[in-house]
Amino acid sequence: MPTMADVARSAGVSVATVSHVLNETRPVLPHTRQAVLDAVERLGYTPNTLARSLVTSRTRSIGLAVSAISNPYFTEILQGVEAAALEHGYSLLIADPHDDPEHERKVVQLLHERRVDGLIVAPSADPRALLGYLARHAVPTVLLDRVIDGRMDTAPPFDQVCAENTEPTTLLVTHLAGLGHRRIGLVAGLPGLSTTGERITGYRQGLALAGVAPDDNLIVPGNSESAGAEQATAALLSLAAPPTALVTANNAMTIGALRTLRAQGLSVPDDIALCCFDDFAWADLFSPRLTAIAQPSRELGAEAVRVLLERLASPGRPARTVRLPCTFVHRTSCGCLEEGGETPAATRAARSERPRYSENPVHPVHPVHPEKGSLS
Ligand code: HPA
Repeated sequence: MPTMADVARSAGVSVATVSHVLNETRPVLPHTRQAVLDAVERLGYTPNTLARSLVTSRTRSIGLAVSAISNPYFTEILQGVEAAALEHGYSLLIADPHDDPEHERKVVQLLHERRVDGLIVAPSADPRALLGYLARHAVPTVLLDRVIDGRMDTAPPFDQVCAENTEPTTLLVTHLAGLGHRRIGLVAGLPGLSTTGERITGYRQGLALAGVAPDDNLIVPGNSESAGAEQATAALLSLAAPPTALVTANNAMTIGALRTLRAQGLSVPDDIALCCFDDFAWADLFSPRLTAIAQPSRELGAEAVRVLLERLASPGRPARTVRLPCTFVHRTSCGCLEEGGETPAATRAARSERPRYSENPVHPVHPVHPEKGSLS
């Protein structure tokens, strides 16, 4: 393996000059710089970042620990983190804590032992072990997506990057209420996550703004995943006074809710209106197209990297929380019309306070032919 000294000898310059060219630590005359790059190419030299780390105590790497990496929301976050890290000359080590507190502490410890310069972590619903570890070892860390609120009074303040959750959920609820709905069900996330709590707060705020009396039976935890949402939706539909509209609190739960609605032969928005937190690439391919809140997922990832690099540059500055706004993507699952369309029955029924599907005594409870469902 050629060394830096070989490159210096071949280019006829000092080792320090080679280092300045490769690390861009000082300007070097163009013809000298070119001589160094030519020697690098000629000899097939590759820098030894491990050796450099021993000198600088920095690895120029970031550890990322987020659960549900296969969820498009987190995949896009990862893309944002990766692109921003690369832009700043950092590489990435990735772990999935599977939303399990013990696994979470373990993978974070492993990343830390690999001497990443800092961590970006989306904490689980019970992050006490994680936060204890990070605090004990003073690991520069940005918490992403899920924030630590006042309940964690033992935790030191961390930098945090997350999306707005409350106001966008309020908007979904007031939008449905504006269409006449008074019984709006919420398929909520995993208890203990800040995103879950904030979206429930937003839901309640929406009802209050619309002058609709809250009914806690209409909030059912779907545990942030599809299977949980299938059950939650079934529970909502079996209420004596079932909802005429649903809000699903994330993309995975939207899929679960849609499965149950289809299995019960209910059509969106004709039988029941639907608004979703989280947009995803194929949300406009559903029929009806899904009205959704789009989170700035890539930007969240990129912002987390920026905040972490600021922390590395100035370790003493106070911790801060950055919140990025979401976008309301208005489509038709809410019951609003495509150009020239007919007002859905659920909207008409909601205006007269009756759930349309309970009027129909023969609606199938078991799966209907897939083609007959409202989702194509
Ligand atoms: N947090 C925020 N948004 C989400 C999540 C989550 O855990 N999962 C899917 N969308």
